[in-house]
Amino acid sequence: MLGLYSAAMARFSTRTGRSLEPNELALEVGRRRSLGAPLLDLTVSNPTAAGIEYPTDRIAAALALTAGAVYRPDARGLSRAREAVSADYARRGVDVGPNRILLTASTSESYAFLFKLLCDPGDTVLVPVPSYPLFEHLAALECVEAVPYPLVYHGSWRLDLEALASAVDARSRAVIVVNPNNPTGSFLRPEELQGLQLLAARHGLAIVADEVFACYDWSGARDQLPELCGDLPALTFCLGGLSKAAGLPQMKLGWLIARGPAPLVEAALSRLELVADTFLSVGTPVQEAAAALLEAGEEIRGRITERCRANLRALPGLMRGHPACEALPVEGGWSCVLRLPRTCGDEERVLGLVREDGVLVHPGYFFDFANEGYVVASLLTNPAAFREGIGRLLARSDSGF
Ligand SMILES: Cc1ncc(COP(=O)(O)O)c(C=O)c1O
Repeated sequence: MLGLYSAAMARFSTRTGRSLEPNELALEVGRRRSLGAPLLDLTVSNPTAAGIEYPTDRIAAALALTAGAVYRPDARGLSRAREAVSADYARRGVDVGPNRILLTASTSESYAFLFKLLCDPGDTVLVPVPSYPLFEHLAALECVEAVPYPLVYHGSWRLDLEALASAVDARSRAVIVVNPNNPTGSFLRPEELQGLQLLAARHGLAIVADEVFACYDWSGARDQLPELCGDLPALTFCLGGLSKAAGLPQMKLGWLIARGPAPLVEAALSRLELVADTFLSVGTPVQEAAAALLEAGEEIRGRITERCRANLRALPGLMRGHPACEALPVEGGWSCVLRLPRTCGDEERVLGLVREDGVLVHPGYFFDFANEGYVVASLLTNPAAFREGIGRLLARSDSGF
């Protein structure tokens, strides 16, 4: 029988048909690394690989507590762990009951669960651009289409509510907002969130508010999370996780918080429980250790904050003497965006930077910027490498590339 089944007969879903071929930039970086040539990498997004010191004793002690853990899964997440997440929000002045929280293995998994909850195949979710590049892929894996809506820059990045409203149609199920947005570092203003709530309630859409970077607020103006406070008219899910909030992506613990009209929240959570129960993907040790990891996370967050602030402080000095280049304001998050003269295409610019200057930054197209002339650098970069890398980038722009 086996002989009858040949590779030619195998059928795969279109969802998994995305090409994994590396692009020219990835090939160039790979070539350089294989030759052992130096490269100043200003794209690091993994805090555990950024030369930041971790309190390894505290992390080891947190995990040691879980050595004898018994497996008694709870689809919404162990109540101890949900209470720990709730206490962490209380520290930020936000009242989130543990019964509104559902644990996942990561924010990516939270998206997958929410798309399963909200969408049938062929439905759409509205996603901001420029923003986190994984949305299209996360949606496609659930047979859902990601439809872009624009963020516009007028001295700061703003939600274009009119453009968003005109992107809504009968297939729309949810609007995703990223707050603060990656990579623009922009927070939504309370009035934008209010407009969004009204729009979503009017069209029966859910709001998915990705707040993974909310703890990294450089403006100092936000001491509250308005999207989690008050009576919300629309079904709203706020996403967070240890990955960014505690700088611990390797622990694989995320969460989603359901808010909005009580009957909708109850219905959503019991359906999500069914989804989560099918996978039971969150490990027991990380749940048992969640309270201690969140406490250690405060120290890690402090170190990451120091690193980002050091790079942010250096930026104005680096930009001086390069009037044609601009560092856009950063209100929060781990990235900064530079606008450069459009003397060449983004692809040509970033390839030239790698080949001739040994500097890697993200081209704007990686995040779907509407125009050429943007590059993105990570604030997690070692400060000496950041200064040297941005210096070489600006010198290259001055020379017409
Ligand atoms: C805006 C945003 N959301 C979600 C994630 C993924 O988070 P997690 O590691 O919890 O899946 C990232 C990762 O960079 C991100 O930038």
